[in-house]
Amino acid sequence: MPANDLAIVILAAGKGTRLKSSLAKVLHRAGGRTLVEHVLRACAPLKVKKTVVVVGHQAEQVAPVVEPLGMEIVLQQPQHGTGHAIQVARRALGNAKLALVLPGDAPLVRTETLKALVAAHRAGNAAATILTAVLADPSGYGRIVRKSGANVSAIVEESQLTEEQRELNEINSSIYCFTLERLWPALAQVKPNNKHRELYLTDAIALMAGKGETVLAQLAGDAQEALGCNTRADLAEVDRTFREWKRAALLNDGVTIQLPETVLVDPDVAAGEDTVIEPCVQLLGKTKIGARCTIRTGSVLSDAILGDDVTVEPHCVVAQSRLDDRVIIGPFARLRPENHLKAGARVGNFVELKKSTVGEGTKAMHLTYLGDTKIGAKTNTGAGTITCNYDGFHKYPTTIGNRVFIGSDSTLVAPLCVGDGAYVAAGSTITENVPPDALGIARGRQANKSGWAAKKRRDFAAAENPKKTARSRKKSKPRRTAKKSRRR
Ligand code: UD1
Ligand code: MG
Repeated sequence: MPANDLAIVILAAGKGTRLKSSLAKVLHRAGGRTLVEHVLRACAPLKVKKTVVVVGHQAEQVAPVVEPLGMEIVLQQPQHGTGHAIQVARRALGNAKLALVLPGDAPLVRTETLKALVAAHRAGNAAATILTAVLADPSGYGRIVRKSGANVSAIVEESQLTEEQRELNEINSSIYCFTLERLWPALAQVKPNNKHRELYLTDAIALMAGKGETVLAQLAGDAQEALGCNTRADLAEVDRTFREWKRAALLNDGVTIQLPETVLVDPDVAAGEDTVIEPCVQLLGKTKIGARCTIRTGSVLSDAILGDDVTVEPHCVVAQSRLDDRVIIGPFARLRPENHLKAGARVGNFVELKKSTVGEGTKAMHLTYLGDTKIGAKTNTGAGTITCNYDGFHKYPTTIGNRVFIGSDSTLVAPLCVGDGAYVAAGSTITENVPPDALGIARGRQANKSGWAAKKRRDFAAAENPKKTARSRKKSKPRRTAKKSRRR
């Protein structure tokens, strides 16, 4: 059921100074997505009428990422802190009674946790409900000061902690549910009493609690959900958690992952039962892998679609390509975008493919480049075959039929057709079409010159050491005479 009285505000205007980056903080990636995208995805199932994203620093880059997802953009310029960001969003919130506020830099939060937070807020008729977590190392976070039981009296930022408060390890996630009519008066009283001269949303909590309003704290089921990304170390930690969650999901789907901590999988990747993923594999983008496949060590697949029983031998790179059932590639194969390898095709070591179709059962096993090429079924492409698809200006196609035999070390100068059942002689440079069942041969004729090599060796030896050669000639003379006389 969509909640009509609830709006969502995502704070994404900050610079992220601690990341030391030219890229806005919320556009940094963890677990295969930008931080802000993770937050928006967690919010989407709540189906609220309005989601407002506050942008500011690098707004021109952040806005195009969130706008297509149907969010309303509010510009905070300049950025005077989290409290100021909410004030800027006020008009856009219209007549919403409650606001779920999230920072754009806490991407691990889950939908269920947000639903529970809103439910607790409603049930407690609270002015504010804060999502909190207990961390072994709470440094960097605002700390929760509890009044009694579930009630909170203040959030104290790290820089303002007293010696005693440093012991507190319950932290503010910056994810809150507010009853707006009780938030606005408190926010109006917040002063920029900190070294950055900013209006802190956290200061509104003490003001509300001081007026006797109910401020609740709800502990996140999994403390990791509260983690924010202010530094590169935070980003790495959050990325690690996302990757763990994704691998756990694949293991749960019946996929074997060897040394799972070395395998990197993007969120939209899927793999079928009994597929085996060896150590140090990366599965990226929208890669989909069928059942009983083996992805061997060191291979990187991005936006690849694999059928069933496919083997990717070690150290292959596959981008935006389709490999049908029982295809085997590698080791050391490189598939650039837009290839289609049909059932049972085999591509071996040091073979590069681009925009090419390889027919059923066809082989290209060694040291080959196939670009803009269509090959039929059961064709053998010999070692060192190169399609010359580019003349420096344009790309041209090569079409090779069924049951063709391309001899080793052939260059096929496109545009070119080699008909069904044809042969190309090894070492040929083919520039004209080869008709079906014909032999295409285009190489210099062989001539054997007898004794040529032996003479060459003698000449080299003489040139390298003329004295020695002369001496040995002198010495050998009398012997030759002696031999001659003997013969006489
Ligand atoms: C904030 C909280 C802290 C909490 C932590 C959790 C404050 C003052 N502190 O600290 O209690 O433990 O989050 O991660 O709120 N932003 C704007 N406009 C601004 C400033 C910030 O939109 O003017 C956005 C940022 O883009 C970010 C979010 O608000 O997404 C939080 O700001 P950040 O600077 O990360 O606050 P923290 O120091 O992490
Ligand atoms: Mg932060």
